[in-house]
Formats: sequence, structure tokens, C-alpha cells
Amino acid sequence: MLLKNCKVLYHGEEGIKDILVQDGKIVKIYNCSEVEELDIDEIIDVDGNWVLPGVIDAHTHMRDPGLDYKEDFETGSMACAKGGVTTFIDMPNTVPNTTTEEILTAKERNSKNRSYVDYGFHFGGSRLDNSEEIKKVKRRVASTKIFLNMSTGDMLVEEDKVLENLFKESKIVSVHAEEDMVDRAIDLARRFRKPLYLCHLSKKSEVEKLRAAKKEGLKIYGEVAPHHLFLDSTMANSLLLMKPELKEKEDNEALWEGLMDGTIDTIGTDHAPHTLEEKNSKVTYGIPGVENSLELMLKELNKKIDMKTLQKVMSENPAKIFKIENKGILEIGYDADLVVVDITRKEVIKNEDVVSKCGWTPYDGVVGGGKVLSTLVRGKVVYDGNSFIEKIGEGVSYKNV
Ligand code: DOR
Ligand code: ZN
Ligand code: ZN
Repeated sequence: MLLKNCKVLYHGEEGIKDILVQDGKIVKIYNCSEVEELDIDEIIDVDGNWVLPGVIDAHTHMRDPGLDYKEDFETGSMACAKGGVTTFIDMPNTVPNTTTEEILTAKERNSKNRSYVDYGFHFGGSRLDNSEEIKKVKRRVASTKIFLNMSTGDMLVEEDKVLENLFKESKIVSVHAEEDMVDRAIDLARRFRKPLYLCHLSKKSEVEKLRAAKKEGLKIYGEVAPHHLFLDSTMANSLLLMKPELKEKEDNEALWEGLMDGTIDTIGTDHAPHTLEEKNSKVTYGIPGVENSLELMLKELNKKIDMKTLQKVMSENPAKIFKIENKGILEIGYDADLVVVDITRKEVIKNEDVVSKCGWTPYDGVVGGGKVLSTLVRGKVVYDGNSFIEKIGEGVSYKNV
């Protein structure tokens, strides 16, 4: 397959290129005129639109198995494809929690042939100390996710000794840690020399803690969710309730600053769908996100963020941090996970267009910064701007563990 007239950022330079794809991999990135003589079965002219490496969202809650009335692998992956997300990494607070090898195996089996995009799993750290299970599954998961604060799913771990054992046996730990718990997580990472991924930073003080930890030379990474960049506490209502909760405008600014100066490494949506009925009838933490993260970030293109940083934080860095094989950048030999976006099409985001099973978006009425024209996973179009084509999604592999 040949993608013609692609606007790309390649080796740091913006230009129009043709991208040749064979067996799901990028095999050549040409200057347009050089390709004429090739014998190619399928040619897609993208007309000078941007072609970005597919978004990798390292933080989703697809609710499958166990809570699949909110979302399931199929609908969640449709939301991904529509939003330009070609790989998602799912969190362990599904039911049962992903805290044993057996449950992980069942989750892997359950997801087969049901996703439009590629995917991986975070394993869950358990308060009952499942460090023996962590040892067994290391190669098959992105990280061990530990909840240091209470959130959806009752997975809080509090005991020092248990936390120590979980850190000791993990290759990388992801944490839900807010405020003081950020210090606790950094301290554990320092003591056990473990890479640490701080999920959904939401406060200025947390960005400062991360900046200091990086300065110290620790392998500590930070994620921010779009809602903590674009929304603040003055907008909070029962729908916009999530953990961590929305903060102040000054925190939004500090998070943008952290993103731009390299303190914060990734955008992760914390896609946490609940039905409207649940959101309206009881305190329910979490909002959907994968469907809109790219179009939201594109709103700030050439304002708060440049294209290079956008690709870094949405694709390259998540792949690097979790050592996801062959993904994250536009480069020869890498998977042809690509998203074509028209940044001149600023369309209004609407509840009625939502494909996530939860059926609503916190961004109803907001104007997006670009329209996804197509999403390719390993060289196959899985979303064409309108329809969903084929559930070819597979589990990702991780490097050298
Ligand atoms: O708001 C949240 N929702 N925060 C979390 O940590 C979990 C998530 C969920 O699974 O609903
Ligand atoms: Zn969380
Ligand atoms: Zn989460």
C-alpha cells in the first residue's frame, strides 16, 4: 500500500512524503516524485493532510470483562479508532481485577478478535501482595498499576511492606497517586530503583515534584489527561467528576508548562466511561476520553503545543516508557500505525456522534481542532472517517524484559 502526499514530521522536518507500507510495516518514506515506477496494489492519496504516528493511550479503562454495560473491548476500540488511537493499554480495575496470571490470561483471551486497534494490559498490584504473580506475568504486561488513593474499583494498597514487595518485583510501576502519595511513590521508586509512571498529574505541586525527581536522575515519568489541561474546577458538576478531580486554572497552566518543558512525558486519557444514568444518580468517578484526545490537543496546535511535542507525548513517549515494540514513531521498520487528520476541519463534538458505549462525552458542544480522516493499524484501514472496517487489533509485545 502507498499513502501519497502525506504531510509528515520526519526526522524533525516537516514535508510532503509518500509512505510505502508492506506487511503492516513502513518500508519506505519517499519524496513524492520517486515512487512512480513501483507496482503497488493500493494507493491512498491523502491530499497533503497530516499523517501522524497513531496515538498510544497508555491509560484506559475499557470495563471488559465484568463491567461491560459501560464499555467493552469492541466499543472502546471503536472510540479509539475514531479518535486516532491505534494502541491502548488497559487498566486492571476490571472485574475480576487483573491481579493473577490466570485472570490476565482470561482477559487476554476475552479480548481476542474484538478490537479494532492494538492493545496491551497493565497488571494490578493487590493489597494481598501478589508479587509472586507479578513475577510470572512481567513479560506480558506494560506495568504494575498500583492505586495509592481510593478510586473506582476498590484496589487501594496501603501497607508499606506490601508496597515494597510490589515495587521490588515489578519492571515498571504505574501509580494512581495524588498529592502526598506522589512523594510516597517517588520514595519507593528511589529505594527500589524502579521506573515509575505517575498517572494523571493534576496539580502544580505534583508537576514540581516530578520536575525535582527528574533532576535527581530518577527514572520517573508523568502523564496528564486532557481534562486536566482543558477543564477546571469552576466547570465541575456530577458529570465532570473524576479522580483526581478538576483543579484550578493555575494548575492547568502548570500542566501545560510541564508538558512543554519535558517534565510531563505523555498524554493519557484515563478513559473511564460510566453510563449517564450512573453519573446522574450517584457519585461516580471517571469520564470517557479516547474519542476526543487528539482532536482536543490539535485545538492547541501552534498555540500551546507544537506538532513535534504533540507526537512525542501522544505516541513516541508512551511507546518508549512501556517498551512497546515497533510502535510510536513514523519510521522505516515500524508498524504502519497511522492517523490521517484534516486540521482545517474544526467540527463540533456532539454526544450523538459518540461511539463509546457510555453514549456521552464531556466535550459535547466543544469545537475540535481537526477531523480524523482515517486510522490505520499495521497498514490496514480500521476507520475511514465514517465507518469501522475490521477488528484486526492484537496484543502488543514488549522489548527486552
Ligand atoms: O476517575 C477515575 N475513574 N479515576 C480512576 O482512578 C479510576 C477511573 C475508573 O476506573 O472509573
Ligand atoms: Zn487513576
Ligand atoms: Zn485511570
